[in-house]
Amino acid sequence: MEQRRARGERVLPMGFGEAGLPVHPLLRDELRAASGRNAYGPVAGLPELRAAAAGYWTRRGLRTDAEQVVVAPGSKALLFAMRMACGGDVILPRPSWVSYAAHDELLGSRVWHVDTPPGGGGVPDPERVARTLGLARAAGREIRQVIVTLPDNPTGTIARPEIVESLGRVARENNLTVVSDEIYREVAHPGQSVAFPALFAPERTVVTAGLSKSHALGGWRLGIARFPDSAHGRRLRAHVLGIASEVWSTAAVPVQRAAVLAYEEPQVLVEHVAASARLHARVAEAVAARWAAHGARVTAPQGGFYVYPDLDARRAHLSRKWSVTTGADLADLLLDRHGVVVLPGHVFGEAPEALRLRVATSLLYGTAPDQREAALAAEEPLTLPWIAAALRHLEEALDDVLGTAETE
Ligand SMILES: Cc1ncc(COP(=O)(O)O)c(C=O)c1O
Repeated sequence: MEQRRARGERVLPMGFGEAGLPVHPLLRDELRAASGRNAYGPVAGLPELRAAAAGYWTRRGLRTDAEQVVVAPGSKALLFAMRMACGGDVILPRPSWVSYAAHDELLGSRVWHVDTPPGGGGVPDPERVARTLGLARAAGREIRQVIVTLPDNPTGTIARPEIVESLGRVARENNLTVVSDEIYREVAHPGQSVAFPALFAPERTVVTAGLSKSHALGGWRLGIARFPDSAHGRRLRAHVLGIASEVWSTAAVPVQRAAVLAYEEPQVLVEHVAASARLHARVAEAVAARWAAHGARVTAPQGGFYVYPDLDARRAHLSRKWSVTTGADLADLLLDRHGVVVLPGHVFGEAPEALRLRVATSLLYGTAPDQREAALAAEEPLTLPWIAAALRHLEEALDDVLGTAETE
């Protein structure tokens, strides 16, 4: 991307899952005010932050005590520590976020991918999960954990509650630990609701969340986990704290102070997060519509800032005109001819020949802070010149590469 930019060529950055929005001034003030706090903090996190995080979950119907919470520099660190603490093999939804499988590669354990059912983005098909456990046992392997993502990255969709409930039942029957990655919960699109797997398998579900997406604070590194109030939960939490103590010691204390404010949810911050969710919804829908108009099968986006078009219906055209037969070929073609950056489905666990792409929409809000502020404040963000230009760029690229749906 940078090379293309340096050559003066156009780039449409839709590869990276960054929230693309400014920091709220209240959080900045809080961080500045706490910058003198230079001593190490407790490994589990500041007590006031654990209490605020417990309040955040309790207000949403998931009763939580501060003792169940662990704070870390990002939820990714918590997800890795959880994999290490759980041990055994893991079931991941196909498709699923890149780092889950990478964690198992680092740990030397094995990933069992299970397709998501229709309406179940981010959750592996519960019936197939049960079957996969048998297959693993027959191969002499033990699966101990399943990861779900609600709302989902890469598909930008939210699994239906009945699917989440069945998954919870299968997990309970088979003593699986469920890790529910809910980093996108607060940016579910307006009118969408997100089930809590922790209500369906309460003694076995760990929830992870953080401020990277809801408050666009990826670089501040702040994640939280909620462990179940059960003997299993207490054992896992103690194990994760042991790993935390030897690896990261504590999340940055000034950042934790700002996070207390975020999780106490004063009205201005609630409105700020709601405005981000509206913006994500508007732009993701506009991007999805452009892929659909070019013959892609694409589920309407429901949360976060991703669209996941499937170009299988255009396979004959893509093969004939461009010799494109894999998702990676298609992503390369879009980059080479048009500077459109997207990720091929295979990095999310799909077969190489799947013509699926993850299209991140949040870097279209602009490059300069004032553009991003304007996008957040706009009644109709699609009319802002830089967003309209980005959508035109996408349309031109799709016209060239895919033609229209009738081209077949
Ligand atoms: C599904 C998912 N989980 C976790 C993370 C990591 O979040 P954090 O910044 O809290 O480590 C990301 C970030 O891209 C994500 O997409």
